[in-house]
Amino acid sequence: MTFGEIEPGAGLKSALARPPADVLARIDASGLRGRGGAGFPTSLKWELAQKSKGDKKYVICNADEGEPGTFKDRVILGDFADMVFEGMTIAAVAIGARHGIVYLRAEYTYLRGHLEAVLQRRRENNLLGENICGREGFDFDIEVHMGAGSYVCGEETALIESLEGQRGEPRNRPPFPIDTGYLGNPTTVNNVETFAWAVCILAKGADWFKRLGTEKSTGHKLFSVSGDCRRPGVYDLPLGITVAELLAEVGGEDAKAVQVGGAAGQCIPRRDFQRGIAYEDIPTGGSIIVFGPGRDMLRVAKNFLEFFIDESCGQCTPCREGAPRLLEGIEMLHRGDCSMTYLDELCSLGETMQLASKCGLGQTAPSTFLSVVQNFRDEILGRTGGN
Ligand SMILES: Cc1cc2nc3c(=O)[nH]c(=O)nc-3n(C[C@H](O)[C@H](O)[C@H](O)COP(=O)(O)O)c2cc1C
Ligand code: SF4
Repeated sequence: MTFGEIEPGAGLKSALARPPADVLARIDASGLRGRGGAGFPTSLKWELAQKSKGDKKYVICNADEGEPGTFKDRVILGDFADMVFEGMTIAAVAIGARHGIVYLRAEYTYLRGHLEAVLQRRRENNLLGENICGREGFDFDIEVHMGAGSYVCGEETALIESLEGQRGEPRNRPPFPIDTGYLGNPTTVNNVETFAWAVCILAKGADWFKRLGTEKSTGHKLFSVSGDCRRPGVYDLPLGITVAELLAEVGGEDAKAVQVGGAAGQCIPRRDFQRGIAYEDIPTGGSIIVFGPGRDMLRVAKNFLEFFIDESCGQCTPCREGAPRLLEGIEMLHRGDCSMTYLDELCSLGETMQLASKCGLGQTAPSTFLSVVQNFRDEILGRTGGN
């Protein structure tokens, strides 16, 4: 993994040797986009947080990792925790923060002791605390906060609500966390992997990072690969890799379909395996689930919809009411008594959910349903009533 090739501390040393504006400029030049899924430009988020008015600013590491099929952040936190904390410290330099919080997925409680030990060692080595690395006035420390055990708490505003002790429900946006985040203060929320790449960029330079990937999706990305393949695991691969190339790498050449981006992502059929995994083509937070030739795609869509129904916070109608209707539709399709007209209405309902749901959970909940209906129509039509 690339992270193992970076000299510990080199990124922070480079960040402290330059003014905060240069740190931002280097991240900007690298083209780094957030690795949590949406691909928001990291430099822009940090710049907005830096420009936001407020005495207290926060750097939050989103380690909630609740997307089905995603387990790369767990590996990073287990093997490269120092790097994540170093990346958070670099973000603190860039935005002018003194407080950092890791929001750790409840199911990763077993990692907490390890993370606390790494934090303590960093304090003893003057890499956290007051006057970090001898730089007068640069104070920053990090605490670990356990997650609430709910997928929606990975959504950054729900995460902040949960941190503040409220129910983890998404907020209306605007305002955005960069100006009204944790306890009303400017806050940057970034994925675990984003912080680790920021260290690499400060240590090795923007050109080194950009040498791989595509123009709009620079650099490498970690992929969590599971399902019907011979070599599941975490892979460090350049963005822009085609689905076919990735399948060859993981031993899944005979796949019938690949779910890119977890339950919230798209189900890619074999005929599209030459497409690239990149923000401008098939975006992903890193979850790749391989479906072999024997898989029933309606069962796949059913499984993901059941997950969304369980995890919806219930705040808004399109998500709360829409997902159960889609699930009913899948059950009708299974029985072979869903008419074509009703199937079209369900697709239209799915599109409404994408547009009208309040947060990313409801906006992406119908994605698999829609892509299965679109890409595996023959399999589905075989079961529908024809009226
Ligand atoms: C339902 C839902 C769950 C999410 N879960 C996570 C998560 O577990 N980890 C994560 O980094 N981002 C998650 N996100 C995205 C975050 O809201 C946010 O965009 C991300 O943490 C920003 O980090 P980045 O800019 O480094 O990608 C989730 C979004 C939604 C809508
Ligand atoms: S889209 Fe779903 S999870 Fe998001 S706020 Fe609405 S009900 Fe809650």
